[in-house]
Amino acid sequence: MCGIIGYVGGGDALPVLMNGLATLEYRGYDSAGVSVLTGSARPELRVVKRAGKLAALEGALADVGLAGTVGLGHTRWATHGEPTDRNAHPHVDEDGDLAIVHNGIIENFVEIKEELVADGVEFLSETDTEVLAALVARHRREPADGAAPGTALVEALRAVMRRVDGQFAVALVDRREPDVLVAGRRGAPLVLGHADGASLLSSDVAGLIAHTRDVEALTDDQVAVLTAEGIAVTDLHGEPTSGQRFTVDWDIDAAEKQGYPHFMLKEIHEQPQAIADTLVGRLDGDGRIALDEVRFDAADIRTVDKVYIVACGTSYHAGLVAKHAIEHWAGVGVEVEIASEFRYRDPILTPHTLVVAISQSGETTDTIAAAAHARDQRAKVVAISNVVGSTLTREADAVIYTRAGPEIAVASTKAFTTQIVALGVLALFLAQERRTLFPEECRDQLARYEALPGHLESLLEVNGDQLAGLAERIADAAYVMFIGRHNGVPIAYEGALKLKEISYLHAEGFPAGEMKHGPIALIDEGGPVVAIATRGHVHGKVVSNIQEVRARGAEVIALATEGDTTVKAHADHVVYIPDVHELLTPVLTVVPLQVLAYHAAVHLGRDVDQPRNLAKTVTVE
Ligand code: G6P
Repeated sequence: MCGIIGYVGGGDALPVLMNGLATLEYRGYDSAGVSVLTGSARPELRVVKRAGKLAALEGALADVGLAGTVGLGHTRWATHGEPTDRNAHPHVDEDGDLAIVHNGIIENFVEIKEELVADGVEFLSETDTEVLAALVARHRREPADGAAPGTALVEALRAVMRRVDGQFAVALVDRREPDVLVAGRRGAPLVLGHADGASLLSSDVAGLIAHTRDVEALTDDQVAVLTAEGIAVTDLHGEPTSGQRFTVDWDIDAAEKQGYPHFMLKEIHEQPQAIADTLVGRLDGDGRIALDEVRFDAADIRTVDKVYIVACGTSYHAGLVAKHAIEHWAGVGVEVEIASEFRYRDPILTPHTLVVAISQSGETTDTIAAAAHARDQRAKVVAISNVVGSTLTREADAVIYTRAGPEIAVASTKAFTTQIVALGVLALFLAQERRTLFPEECRDQLARYEALPGHLESLLEVNGDQLAGLAERIADAAYVMFIGRHNGVPIAYEGALKLKEISYLHAEGFPAGEMKHGPIALIDEGGPVVAIATRGHVHGKVVSNIQEVRARGAEVIALATEGDTTVKAHADHVVYIPDVHELLTPVLTVVPLQVLAYHAAVHLGRDVDQPRNLAKTVTVE
């Protein structure tokens, strides 16, 4: 994880780096640092870095002049070594000539470090990154007369990348080749920005958007030399190549709070629009459902005999919701699996297996690796992602994009609901190709999805105060339980995950029918239980489960369908949800739970958008 940013151009580097770090801070906020080449005759490499959030670095920079036109910045999510000043990036080599910022993990760093220590190198930090800095320094040879700027540094980086194992994105600056930045990647994201009189690099597009929309995503084992005049990309043997170049079509406003106190609240309220955008243009000229990108014959879908869905965190919960729709409409068995577990067992994968990999960022290492494992076994991979050109989408056989716009808050909200909708589109596409639904039935179901934004608008309008009050009630609880059945189970999981992520309350989700096999022992007087009890074929069963916990003293907050008169009699509080098709209900039921978690976190004074120990995009295993 971590965020990296770099600038080389005619302007002052530091403000660009600091603004970039502010947009990248969601990727990790254990420490932050910058390095800038200062002075023009004999440039000096200056590094300032601090443990803690960006504000600590800002404080440290207040009295330091770091004027220069070339620099790097980093915001860290700690993997090797505690979050201290010393372990913060950038890291420099022993002679203080070059600095490096790094996102990812070098797996063989211990062995390399031992070699370097035996050779007399002294290390100041516990990081794998400092080992990289020392190794680049060892491989650097003075450039031949007349060599292009950056030659020595880029050749050293290529040699180091041939030596190291792991997933990483790195960027370097060297005072001996002062007009360039050098960068490389393997398995972690890195995008380059082509601007007027400047070149930039960043872990994601949001870091570049204030300067340019002309973006080039590096692919694995490519390195780049950036100067004010332009960017040259080569492979690990120095052969010229290029990354994936594209134009960013969203606006800087999308990455700002626009008057909301937190990104999370803004993103919760963006869900109606995000869902509507995700559904635009899903029918082709013949009225048939189409995916965004398909690189296999749609006829192959007819022979699919098994679907695996792989994902992490909130995206995994979207997969659990989708299982119900795919099995119901497309008549094919679906297993949903945590991506980090999938490739370490022996899933039965054949050319007739369809693997659906869900990732908001498209950069989660576990999910990318699970998808790659599936492709190795000749299974077809469909990616569901929010980021155009992300690694997962480039490596998949087909893609459906969620068009949620940038999601900045670490706790995922609009990405989740748009994922459920995109997966609904996939379920209908599968049903259409496998002929388990008639084309007009697919269109009818699609129309139901299209009605969701309107329902969500009204849901968001009416429940705010009630949920804020309920949040205060649960904020002192020792634990909060979430229960549901059928596709309410993943919503129970997701409601609990939201609450624990941002409020740090102990929360767990359970299938309501499982309560009697253990979890009900946790219930005591006044313990809050949130029950998803909306209309559907398991409604009566959930109502019975509510009675069971209430009989043991639980205070029940129930989500029920508007017009339902039964739930009220058994619950202490009822939050009403618009009446929609049972398979689409999760898109609505999750929203009050997002709002509940949000208010609980605000009430408890937590850092809503950047909760402790977490990061938005997890590019380590
Ligand atoms: C992290 C984030 C979660 C997210 C998960 C998967 O844990 O904090 O919000 O659900 O990664 O991320 P992805 O980008 O693959 O959907």
